Amino acid sequence: MMSPNLNASDLDPASPEFAARRAEARQTLDALDPAKQVGQEGAGGDPLRRAWFESVYRLAENDPARVPWANLAPHPLTRAWVEGQVRGLTGLRALDVGCGLGDNAECLSAAGAEVLAFDLVADAISWAKQRFPATKVNYRAADLFDLPSEWQGAFSLVHECYTLQALSVSLVPKALGVLASLLAAGGHLLVVARARSEDEDVSGPPWPLPPSFIEEAKSQGLQPVMVEDINATSEVGRRHWRVLFQREPQG
Ligand SMILES: C[S@@+](CC[C@H](N)C(=O)[O-])C[C@H]1O[C@@H](n2cnc3c(N)ncnc32)[C@H](O)[C@@H]1O
Repeated sequence: MMSPNLNASDLDPASPEFAARRAEARQTLDALDPAKQVGQEGAGGDPLRRAWFESVYRLAENDPARVPWANLAPHPLTRAWVEGQVRGLTGLRALDVGCGLGDNAECLSAAGAEVLAFDLVADAISWAKQRFPATKVNYRAADLFDLPSEWQGAFSLVHECYTLQALSVSLVPKALGVLASLLAAGGHLLVVARARSEDEDVSGPPWPLPPSFIEEAKSQGLQPVMVEDINATSEVGRRHWRVLFQREPQG
């Protein structure tokens, strides 16, 4: 549902007005983010930053410009990967992790996958459902670190875009373990994330992922079958990873 004060023209992510509202929201949200106040890990606070993620969606009041990652379209690297699957995604049971407003989940669904998508924040889930009233996606509120047991090993494709990098650095190994556990043996995990060098200083959030996240994933039983280290382009403004892992068949 569109905010009562917004016209369709206000929802163009390429417009200066959208950019101005986003910049204003970022200032407010940075001031609220414990991780921005006390250093890289948000020491002493909730490592999940649940209150902050909830504030993002609540304070946005249905204006996607005020949700820093919402571009009202699938991520270009996700979309291009999906479009490159010559047989589409029909027959796959897919999971979208930290789905936000749902554009990536809808992209997977449009390609034929049966999609379950979840986010920590219930308001994000309600908003995604409002945006896509005829959706085939099953949207659910859930915490990556406390998922229903029946999701274990249940998916042939798990997709995550920008959620690993939004987690406190210390949570990433555990998160990779959870993602591995969701895959059926031989299933695939697609990660789209900002990239950094191993020795580059990070002053997140977000915390771009270093190359060692691939080694960490291997130690969790995820074999990289495609590793793309993508330079900044006009479409993706910064260096990114697009990595496809496969859960070891005996998993
Ligand atoms: C940077 S946003 C990316 C959203 C979406 N994937 C996209 O690309 O637009 C990260 C999302 O992950 C969600 N999130 C953060 N921690 C989570 C957790 N522990 N479990 C599930 N979702 C989480 C946030 O609420 C937020 O919507």
